[in-house]
Amino acid sequence: MQAPLASRPVIHGQVGKVEILPLRGAMGAEIRGMDLRRLDDEAFGVLYRAYLDHLLVLVREQELSDADLLALARRFGTIEMPPVTAEHVAHCRDMPGITVVSNVKVDGAPIGELGDGEVIWHSDYSFREITAGMRVLHAIELPPEGQGANTEFCNTYAAYDALPDGLKRRVHGMTIKHDTAYDTNRNLRRGAQEVADVRLSPGPSHPIVYTHPETGCNALFLGRRPKHYVNGLSLEQSETLLDGLWGHTVQPRFRIAHEWRLGDVVLWDNRCTLHRRGAFNPGGRRVMHAAQVQGQKPAEAPDALGRPPHPRAHLFDDHG
Ligand code: OGA
Ligand code: MN
Repeated sequence: MQAPLASRPVIHGQVGKVEILPLRGAMGAEIRGMDLRRLDDEAFGVLYRAYLDHLLVLVREQELSDADLLALARRFGTIEMPPVTAEHVAHCRDMPGITVVSNVKVDGAPIGELGDGEVIWHSDYSFREITAGMRVLHAIELPPEGQGANTEFCNTYAAYDALPDGLKRRVHGMTIKHDTAYDTNRNLRRGAQEVADVRLSPGPSHPIVYTHPETGCNALFLGRRPKHYVNGLSLEQSETLLDGLWGHTVQPRFRIAHEWRLGDVVLWDNRCTLHRRGAFNPGGRRVMHAAQVQGQKPAEAPDALGRPPHPRAHLFDDHG
């Protein structure tokens, strides 16, 4: 067992040739001097610790085959298989577990998912009973600079910690029903029915407060905004509470934007973060390969109200 995170300082410094540089702003660290194809146990330990401490890790200039990417993801846990779509069947036959995230089309058919439209704030697979843990993206092809294909991330430990005490007590024990009918591009999923009344929509219920199973700290777990419902409330109360929680959570002070460079590997913890991407110029080609591991069924600890904040809930602005 590792020491509880909250009693440790945030790692910031050097282990051998490997440097861990916290990113400016709400979350994240860049690791330098690491080849993700060759991680011995010590190097993986540094990477994993940085992932728990900083929520997101960036490693630049990586050359990874799909097999390398999958091998990296496997070190974090059990590979979570993506939903089966026509794109997967066509392009991921040889490497199950790898997802292509792209707007590129070949003979009119998309080679990957998410296209070039807006991808709304979400955490991966929050619409499943077992939600995602780590997800990793590797940038293989990018549109020209300045074409708006950055990915934004939000620190939901910090958002939880900054809630007024009264609201923390109010949401303690509450659950949200996470809609499964719509995807992150706001389209109905294959075979799903339009949702007329969110109280009756299909989807798993998860606690609003997710006590992270490894760090022991609380994060807000909101999944996606549209069609979600706070169990037990009237429709109006639920909408008001969700709007309030979302307005609070996605404030700029809890967010970072990642500007991609070719070869970047970004991996993040879906248990304590949200992410989104704006629409970008359809003329540019963007190709990322991704993999993810299973998390757990989200749970709130009975003593959640007494838990210490995650060290990165204290926002720091400048690490030079
Ligand atoms: C994802 C995702 C956004 C992006 O791969 O899970 O949400 O910027 N990607 O491609
Ligand atoms: Mn995602």
